[in-house]
Amino acid sequence: MEDRSLSIKKILDLTERHFKKKGIDNARLEAEVLLSHLMKKDRLELYMNFDSILSDIEIETFRDYVKKRSERMPVAYITGKKEFYSLSFKVNENVLIPRPETEILVETALEKIRSRFDKKLKVLDIGTGCGNIAIAIAKNSELVKVDAFDSSKKAIDLAKENARMNNVEHKVNFFQFDISGDFYELRNKIGKTDVIVSNPPYVPTSVIETLAPEILQYEPKQALDGGQDGLEYISKIIHMANGLIINKGYLFIEIGHDQAIEAKKIAEKYFKTDFKTDLQGHQRILIGYRE
Ligand SMILES: C[S@@+](CC[C@H](N)C(=O)[O-])C[C@H]1O[C@@H](n2cnc3c(N)ncnc32)[C@H](O)[C@@H]1O
Repeated sequence: MEDRSLSIKKILDLTERHFKKKGIDNARLEAEVLLSHLMKKDRLELYMNFDSILSDIEIETFRDYVKKRSERMPVAYITGKKEFYSLSFKVNENVLIPRPETEILVETALEKIRSRFDKKLKVLDIGTGCGNIAIAIAKNSELVKVDAFDSSKKAIDLAKENARMNNVEHKVNFFQFDISGDFYELRNKIGKTDVIVSNPPYVPTSVIETLAPEILQYEPKQALDGGQDGLEYISKIIHMANGLIINKGYLFIEIGHDQAIEAKKIAEKYFKTDFKTDLQGHQRILIGYRE
């Protein structure tokens, strides 16, 4: 009789081939990440147990993962987690999956916090999503107390869970608020702040339809859509920052790769400006400051 049992090696080879056929990039890596998640083993352990045979239940669950990925669901939504700034975050379809370029925003803000502030300071994160920026900053600076809001209640619930998981729930105050809401209500609630950070929605509406199916079909539109020119939220945040930041405060906003000139024009009305570039040399982090 034919041996139909599946070893780790065999299932990885089959999945890699299937993903390649479906046009999925990094087919082998993605197969390994999904199987690691299922087997609760890291990728090296998979290789060390290449000949282990999967149980029927494991095969059934893995088939479901492969089906979802073949339908273009991002790996992070299948596993329900994503690493960001060396910390682990729960994610689901109510929040954007944290991106590597946003780690540059966190790094830039932390550098300034360390070099410019020597006593306790307040940070505000606008459009916090799963809480990745707020939590990464809270985790990496003794000095900060972070306020963070999002218009999505489901995002805020998840961000609170992530704060507990990363043991910073006492340092971060998450709350639901809409950036177009009453500014004075916000200022009364949190007072002035030393540093504002934000990765806002900045994709121009007309570009949304051209995004990869992983993004277009699964990630929340309200996390992406920055209005007609993509600058709607960037502009709102700069205006808000003008009324919220203390005299020697700082503002850090992630922007699209081609938005530097326009974003600078808006920010210059209130702040001195600078940029931090990404690995491709694009100006991706707008820095606003007053000195
Ligand atoms: C690009 S995502 C960033 C999420 C997370 N901070 C990150 O870096 O991965 C933008 C976030 O802004 C939130 N958002 C959209 N419109 C908003 C509004 N009017 N007021 C407050 N937050 C809003 C979205 O729900 C989303 O979580």
